Amino acid sequence: MTRKRLLMGNWKMYKTVAETRRFVEDLQGLTQKTPLPAQVETVICPPFTAIGELVRWVNASSQPIGVGAQNVHFAAQGAFTGEISADMLADLGVKYVLVGHSERRTLFGESDEWVQQKAAAVAAQGMQPVICVGENQDERDAQRTLDVVEHQTLTALNGLAASSRGADVVGTAVIAYEPVWAIGSGRTPAPEEAQAVIGAIRQCVARACGAAAADRIRILYGGSVKPENIASFTLQPDIDGALVGGASLQADSFLAMAQAMA
Ligand code: G3H
Repeated sequence: MTRKRLLMGNWKMYKTVAETRRFVEDLQGLTQKTPLPAQVETVICPPFTAIGELVRWVNASSQPIGVGAQNVHFAAQGAFTGEISADMLADLGVKYVLVGHSERRTLFGESDEWVQQKAAAVAAQGMQPVICVGENQDERDAQRTLDVVEHQTLTALNGLAASSRGADVVGTAVIAYEPVWAIGSGRTPAPEEAQAVIGAIRQCVARACGAAAADRIRILYGGSVKPENIASFTLQPDIDGALVGGASLQADSFLAMAQAMA
């Protein structure tokens, strides 16, 4: 199966509404000369406060950009001060939701079980969960990378596989392999090393959820990706795109990455 390439920008806790508008104007200007390549799906995950602005712009323009969210609560509603449900995100026009980003796991104590429940809540609202997995430096040094990412992947997918449409839902999910030590550090694994881990993740999806789901699910690489190195990752056979933090904040580098992976 041919999987459509996916470039996803995670803005983390950067950009006000006004700054989001400026990004959009910059991208609008740049794409008049060089459009976003049709063969690459592009998504931006802004802070919650800028989702509405971005959705309005996407709807009003012909830009082929999807809007994602960076986090969600797994409950449908309730007394969870400060939290946002999948239903609320779907209502805004969100298509993708990151779950289990390493910053959520390490700074906010999110467990594999929470990630599983969040992924299931996202899929139940018809959105696509982007399940983030990755080993930290100590785990890498102890050669535990595959154990860690396979455990994180399988725990998250179990919640999807248990839903009524099972393997179909798994196939529409996205996995982002982000070695924690590579995030924001300027360090990356060799593309062949990222390919080996992502290939192993795909095999583990095949064993757990079947060959069709493994063939369909998109798996991204993330961690210090920029216009200069993105193609070296996305040229690997099992790497379907990239989840990018810092380099997605400027319209020119976002466009350059989309072009580089086309
Ligand atoms: O979600 C994105 C990742 O955390 C990667 O961030 O591209 O700034 O290293 P980075």
